[in-house]
Amino acid sequence: MANNDDQFKKVVSHAKEYGYIFASSEIYDGLSAVYDYAQNGAELKKNIREYWWRSMVYMHQNIVGIDAAILMHPTTWKASGHVDAFNDPLIDNKDSKKRYRADVLVEDYAEKLEQKAQKEIAKAQKRFGEAFDEAQFVTTNPRVLRYRGEAKAAVERLARSLEKEDLADVKALIEELDIADPETGSKNWTEVRQFNLMFGTKLGASAESATDLYLRPETAQGIFVNFLNVQKTGRMKIPFGIAQTGKAFRNEIVARQFIFRMREFEQMEMQFFVRPGEELKWYEYWKETRLKWHLSLGMGKENYRFHDHEKLAHYANAAADIEFNFPFGFKELEGIHSRTDFDLKAHEQYSGKKLQFYDPELQENYVPYVVETSIGLDRMFLAVLSNSLEEETLDDGNTRTVLKLPAILAPVKAAVLPLVKKDGLPEIAQEIIDELQWEHNVVYDEKDAVGRRYRRQDAAGTPFCITVDHQTLDDQTVTLRHRDSMEQERLPISELGSKISEAVSYKTWLA
Ligand code: GAP
Repeated sequence: MANNDDQFKKVVSHAKEYGYIFASSEIYDGLSAVYDYAQNGAELKKNIREYWWRSMVYMHQNIVGIDAAILMHPTTWKASGHVDAFNDPLIDNKDSKKRYRADVLVEDYAEKLEQKAQKEIAKAQKRFGEAFDEAQFVTTNPRVLRYRGEAKAAVERLARSLEKEDLADVKALIEELDIADPETGSKNWTEVRQFNLMFGTKLGASAESATDLYLRPETAQGIFVNFLNVQKTGRMKIPFGIAQTGKAFRNEIVARQFIFRMREFEQMEMQFFVRPGEELKWYEYWKETRLKWHLSLGMGKENYRFHDHEKLAHYANAAADIEFNFPFGFKELEGIHSRTDFDLKAHEQYSGKKLQFYDPELQENYVPYVVETSIGLDRMFLAVLSNSLEEETLDDGNTRTVLKLPAILAPVKAAVLPLVKKDGLPEIAQEIIDELQWEHNVVYDEKDAVGRRYRRQDAAGTPFCITVDHQTLDDQTVTLRHRDSMEQERLPISELGSKISEAVSYKTWLA
């Protein structure tokens, strides 16, 4: 079993080798934390986006989708608080000259303590076997209590200091916890400073008349400013939601871990507008609903967990992350935030326009409260890709690399392979493609022995291989090989379409 670091390296190199992800402008040595999606990556990304869109928009009669512009009136970002508060606390190491997010250093420290606690629990479980009472152990074992107590104290103090903008105390905390530069071990730190993450740009040609703009750091504001337009034209009644997918930009300081933290990325967000006072009920509803969406992909319940926020963003009265077990540990994949009426109220104030809903049942106007679900498409892509990549040892002792992507998301659904390049088999394979391509992305492959072609498709993540052989000439049947089980079945060509459609139907997966 590869360790996590090795596994992550494998994911990154596999992503390149199999046409999923390339570094941006690679011939110029790339651009830090910016990536291009290649031929398979673009398909996988589109399929994830579609899987999200269908579950949010098609499956909820009270949610509609929009596509707002990336460039927005600059006052938007004043109102949203991003100009004043969209900062990360930075700290530099004077020896290594490396820059870190101060909050991440403390959170990683707390995570290490939690890992130590988990180790104690696992050890005890082994020792006591069946008789092990985990609930009792974690509330009485002095080591576990100490690790967890220290972790909690560190995270709570960090939250308090950041809330009060007390950056000197964040530095003091790092020093008291004896946190070292993760790469060099040096503890020679600078002061902590705030750094705004928005990318600025200019609208207009001449220097005098140009307006300063920002590339949007989240898609959500495009939804808020359109709230009333959509409500009126769509005759929406509260509670209702507006969904959107699209690019967002952040000048991330610490851009590591491949596509986990990028400077240009894509979000899939939904703002759900509710009656004031009902937001926490809907917050719970969306936490549960979003987790179900993740679980529907079959990537293992144990790979998800909620993390309830101690430190709340300037707009929230409750917030949680859905964390995923990435090769580098549990990290945020999606955020669910109860944003109160902060955004709509702020836009009312800055624009001078009313952004209210007349509730016919209550017979009153109010500014709705908002519960938001926000997931990074690229991060979801990384979750899917890293979870799917396996190195399998077969019964004959050989190994195979297989990308067990959920079939509904796989870029290519089937490869059609003539056993040999003659005797009319390629022509039949082409006819099969001509038929299947109306519904599915399918490819033709005739190079190399069929066993090698299977392996190639396994590694690329193709769930089905269809082999045309000499028997096909006699009885119009083909072999359908399943990627994960490697089982093969014989079936008539006429049944291929329905078989594949069923395996990749939204109903099968989402229901
Ligand atoms: N509208 C709320 C919002 O933007 P966020 O927690 O800052 O909240 C939401 O971002 C999601 O967007 C995150 O859970 C993550 O999946 C994704 N995300 C944020 N920053 C990212 C980055 N630099 N690179 C890739 N994905 C990112």
